Amino acid sequence: MNPVNKSRRKFIVGSGVVLTVTALGLTLRSAAPRAGDIEFVEKTVPAPEASKGKMLVAYASMYGSTGQVAVSIAEELCKNGYEVDVRLASHVTSLDGYKAVVVGSSAKGSAWLPDAVKFVKTHRQALSKLPVAYFVTCMRLAARDDEDARKLVTAWLDPIRNDVPEVNPLSIGAFAGALDLKKMILIHRVMYPIVAGNSREGDFRNFERIRAWSGGLRTTLTT
Ligand SMILES: Cc1cc2nc3c(=O)[nH]c(=O)nc-3n(C[C@H](O)[C@H](O)[C@H](O)COP(=O)(O)O)c2cc1C
Repeated sequence: MNPVNKSRRKFIVGSGVVLTVTALGLTLRSAAPRAGDIEFVEKTVPAPEASKGKMLVAYASMYGSTGQVAVSIAEELCKNGYEVDVRLASHVTSLDGYKAVVVGSSAKGSAWLPDAVKFVKTHRQALSKLPVAYFVTCMRLAARDDEDARKLVTAWLDPIRNDVPEVNPLSIGAFAGALDLKKMILIHRVMYPIVAGNSREGDFRNFERIRAWSGGLRTTLTT
């Protein structure tokens, strides 16, 4: 047996931090959130009546709150008679059979998460032939949610729009998100105030605004 491992002891030092004591000294590292703390929802929202086909809402998320935004979007989209899959972007392997796709992500460092970027790049060919909309959730809009602020946040998607110009989002939604500092891993707790410019926390999701935007998509994505 490895003598270092044999003498290793771990202590939870406050939420999210692990102190490891070994024969070689002490190390502090961030603990991953405990299993069960975070849920990344995936579900299929059925069409209320006979289905006209399937749509997809694919999302990327660090702490799960964007999943409920994705479900809210799906619940509006299905009202036009479509069955809507809500899936983590990283779990989608094919867009076969979808009539429209909504792609969204929480913001990290004023950008979409890599899983959302990868999704668009991987499926660029299929997406270029489908009606598509993008959305982003962030804390910037928790402080001020008006047209100017939303324009600024929407511009965070310029890199992916420039990198994959053949995919043309017909609409881009920008929404205030949610953040619980207690659930965050240490590196994120340190990084968040630096990259976001504040350390605001709380649930600022405005589901009325999200539903209003999604209601508009019912026409935008089907005409
Ligand atoms: C590491 C980290 C970086 C973030 N960076 C930004 C940022 O640059 N701008 C911003 O407005 N919000 C930022 N946020 C806030 C999240 O985008 C927001 O809380 C979002 O709703 C989280 O969604 P999720 O629970 O699906 O991950 C950041 C959050 C974390 C944890």
